[in-house]
Amino acid sequence: GTALTRRGRECQVEATEILQALFAADAASDPYPRYADLLATGEVCHPTQWSSVVVFGYAAIESVLRDPVFEVQGDTGLDEIFPAWREHPSMSKNSVIDLNGGEHTRVRGLMSRAFSRRRVESLAPAIAATTASLLDDMADRGSGGEPVDFVAQFAFLLPVIVICDLVGIPQADRETFRPLAEDLVAGLIGERRRAEDAVALADDATVRLNDYFTALAGERRKHPRDDLLSQLVHVHDVGDGRLSDAELHDNLRTLVIAGFLTTTHLLSNGLALLLSDPHLAAAMREAEIAVADFVEETLRYEAPVQMTVRRAAAPAELGGIQAAAGTQILLLIGVGNRDPRRFASPDRFDPRRSDAGALSFGGGPHFCLGAALARMEAAIAFPELLARFPAIASAGEARRVPGPAFRGFESLPVTVA
Ligand code: HEM
Repeated sequence: GTALTRRGRECQVEATEILQALFAADAASDPYPRYADLLATGEVCHPTQWSSVVVFGYAAIESVLRDPVFEVQGDTGLDEIFPAWREHPSMSKNSVIDLNGGEHTRVRGLMSRAFSRRRVESLAPAIAATTASLLDDMADRGSGGEPVDFVAQFAFLLPVIVICDLVGIPQADRETFRPLAEDLVAGLIGERRRAEDAVALADDATVRLNDYFTALAGERRKHPRDDLLSQLVHVHDVGDGRLSDAELHDNLRTLVIAGFLTTTHLLSNGLALLLSDPHLAAAMREAEIAVADFVEETLRYEAPVQMTVRRAAAPAELGGIQAAAGTQILLLIGVGNRDPRRFASPDRFDPRRSDAGALSFGGGPHFCLGAALARMEAAIAFPELLARFPAIASAGEARRVPGPAFRGFESLPVTVA
C-alpha cells in the first residue's frame, strides 16, 4: 500500500516536471523523447499547482473525447479569464466546435449534411487544378536553383483556396477572401502574432467576413448552386432545425479557423518527412507505399493539432484522479499518438503499419468534420509534388511553428531544379 502510494506520488512529480519542460517556450523542436518519458509515467496526471488535469495516454484521451461528461468549453468560464470577450465579434461562439449536447447534435447534423462525402469528393478536380497551378508558380520561382519556401508558396495557399471551393466563394472573390482568412487566424501566424494585435485583426476580419457571407448568401438564396453555402442558406431559411444568422456566420468562419493552418501543417510535415528520407520518397514515387497510408502515418507521427481541451461538466474520475466539476482537462493528442500501449514502435515512421488509428482528428461527437477533405488534399498534393520535382531537396534551415499546441512549419525552404 504505502510503497504503491509513494511510487504513485513520485510518478506524479516526475510527470509534472516533464510537462513543465514541454510547456516551456522553446521546447518545440523535438519534444518526442519527453513524450516517451511522460508516457512511461502512465496516462493521466494532475500537475502540482496546475488547475488542469492532463491526459496523455491513447486510451484515456479516446475515452474522454467520447464521454459526454467532458464538454467543449464554448463560452463557459470565459467571463473569468477574458472578461471583455463579449465585446469581441471574433469571440462569437455559435459554431459546432463550441456547442455541447442537443445543440451540438442539431448544428452538427445541419453542417454535416452540407459537408457530405459527395461534396468533398466533387472537389478533387479543383484541388488537382489548384495544386498544378501552385506547382507551376513554385517551378517559376525556383527555376534557377533559388530556394523556394514550400510553406509560403504552397502549403499556406492550397487550404484556403479549397475552403473557397467548398463554401462556393467565386474565384473573383478569392483575393478579397484570403487576407480576411489570414487575419482571422492572425494569432496563429508567426510574423503577425509577433507584430500586431491579433484579436483586433480577427475582430475586424470577422465583421467583414460576416458582411461578405450575408451578401453572398443573398445571391445563393436567389440562385442556388451546388455548394455548401447554398445548402446552409436553404437550411437557414426552411430547414428542419434551422440555423440562426449567428450560427450561419460562426460556422462558416469555423471552417476557416479549423481547416486552414491545420492542413498547412499536414502538408509541411509530410514534405519534411519525404525530404529527410530518400528511401521513403523513392518508395512513394514507385507507388510501393500507398499515398493514403503515408498521409495517415504523417498525421499520427506529427499531429498538426497537438492538444485540445475539455471541461468536466460534473465531478468525474480520470485514471484514478478526481476532477471537480468545472476542471479543465487538457488532452495531449500528439503524445497519445506515440503511446507504446497502442502503437508498436511508436517513434518509428512506418506507413505500412497495421495498427493505424491516430487521434489527430479527435474523436467522439466533435470528430473533425473536415477529415476527409484534409486527407484528400494531402493525397492529391504529395504525388503531384514528387512527380513534378524529381530533384526536390531541402535548402537551408526550416523553421518550426513555436509552442506546444501545433506541429508544423513556418517555413520550409526547398530547391526544385
Ligand atoms: C474539429 C483536426 C482539417 C473542420 C477538429 C478536431 C481536431 C481537428 C483535432 C477536434 C477538436 C476537438 O474535439 O476539440 C484537424 C486537422 C486537420 C483538420 C489535423 C488537417 C490536417 C479540417 C478542415 C476542416 C475542418 C479542412 C474544414 C474545412 C473542422 C470542424 C471541426 C473540426 C468544423 C469541429 C467539429 C465539431 O465540433 O463537431 N479538427 N482538422 N478541419 N474540424 Fe478539423
